[in-house]
Amino acid sequence: MSNIKQHWNDIFDNTQTEDLGWFDAENSQIKDFISRGCWLREDAKIFFAGAGTSSLVKDLSAQKRQLVINDISSIALERLKIELKASKSSCHWICQDVSRPISEQFGNLDLWIDRAVLHFLHDESDIQGYFDNLTGLLKPGGYALFAEFSKQGAAKCAGLPINRYDLAMLQQRLPEFSLVEHDEFLFTSRTGLERPYIIALFQKPA
Ligand SMILES: C[S@@+](CC[C@H](N)C(=O)[O-])C[C@H]1O[C@@H](n2cnc3c(N)ncnc32)[C@H](O)[C@@H]1O
Repeated sequence: MSNIKQHWNDIFDNTQTEDLGWFDAENSQIKDFISRGCWLREDAKIFFAGAGTSSLVKDLSAQKRQLVINDISSIALERLKIELKASKSSCHWICQDVSRPISEQFGNLDLWIDRAVLHFLHDESDIQGYFDNLTGLLKPGGYALFAEFSKQGAAKCAGLPINRYDLAMLQQRLPEFSLVEHDEFLFTSRTGLERPYIIALFQKPA
């Protein structure tokens, strides 16, 4: 098992979802961006990069969607699987590093969502691999939504160094995509830690 997979498995093995520093019961900024900026069919195909045990997956599974749920941690995915048992959506599970090639069978995506995952990638080859997956798997006209630590954000999370983002860094990775909307917001954890985020929604050319 890779060190990084073990690192995340240890975290999920030892921490209840509500006690994770990044736990957000509402994900209101992400939901607002999706409802304002994305036109999605009822059966839209949505990819969650590094989904962890996010309540956002559960909330978006309430509709009849096709969810493609990725994480490097098998323990996180097993926990999410149990919680999604009664979901109306069809769920496909991909337990792997999101920067490694992902099969085309998971393509034709309407929306790619990343909350607090991309910012853990540092090597240029990993970042490039991540964006190759994103650009290749999204359908024409599909959306990519990022919520990452901003330049004012913390230097570390979950014991790992963070590659903090601004809008220009995201735009540089998606030169063909159009920017739909972006903003900055302050996420406050249950223990009172303040985490400045950038949030940005892009659309692939139709
Ligand atoms: C800070 S947590 C955020 C989890 C979730 N997106 C949320 O908002 O609750 C980061 C997540 O990314 C996963 N992760 C970290 N590096 C990854 C990688 N290279 N590929 C896939 N998942 C990764 C971790 O296992 C963890 O679930």
